[in-house]
Amino acid sequence: MKKIIYFGFFACLAWIVSTQYACKKQGCGTTNISYNNQSNSHNMDQNCMNCHNDGGSGKGCFNIAGTVYSSNSSNTTMPNGTIKLYTGPNASGTLKATIQIDAKGNFHTTDAVDLSSDVYPVVYGSSGNVQYMPSGTKNGACNSCHGSNGSKIWVN
Ligand code: HEC
Ligand code: HEC
Repeated sequence: MKKIIYFGFFACLAWIVSTQYACKKQGCGTTNISYNNQSNSHNMDQNCMNCHNDGGSGKGCFNIAGTVYSSNSSNTTMPNGTIKLYTGPNASGTLKATIQIDAKGNFHTTDAVDLSSDVYPVVYGSSGNVQYMPSGTKNGACNSCHGSNGSKIWVN
């Protein structure tokens, strides 16, 4: 009887340790947010959330992520601007999130962003130019439609 209790105790402990470890390995629970001039990101053009998701290999589960270019036809990325998400078109309504674009043109955040209703993305270049997404979206995986999967997010 005693042996069974001991076994149960250690089995539980092992389970707790292994699930904690598994959670870390999955990447969720890690903070990973882009800032201007930071250059530790990669895979420009790709849908970041293919890997930065629950159970994925990427560091941190992204809620918003993508890549910004200097024109729709250019492969040159646009560094150090800002992404803002509003509840209305053309930067109207409430500002829901602000994410700085890094030195590689990528932006990403593990911060919770409320996407239960549509947000209208706006991209600001480092020189102050602005581009508005004409429609709203509840999908923070920007490169699932843009980047290698469609027209580029761009600002000059
Ligand atoms: C094919 C899978 C994959 C894709 C796609 C991917 N990542 Fe990652 N990412 C990883 C892995 C694995 C790591 C952890 C190892 C490393 O640092 O390279 C990581 C780490 C990172 C880090 C942290 C590096 C550090 O210094 O700690 C950043 C920032 C990052 N990714 C940003 C992005 C962005 C932004 C995108 C989309 C434009 C993206 N990733 C797309 C797999 C991916
Ligand atoms: C469901 C698909 C979809 C998703 C997800 C999406 N977009 Fe768009 N986006 C579009 C379409 C369609 C257009 C209009 C046609 C065009 O200009 O590509 C557009 C246009 C834009 C534009 C205006 C064109 C330009 O200058 O880049 C910006 C800015 C933009 N999107 C940013 C974003 C950001 C940031 C995200 C992520 C928060 C995002 N989009 C997510 C489909 C999407």
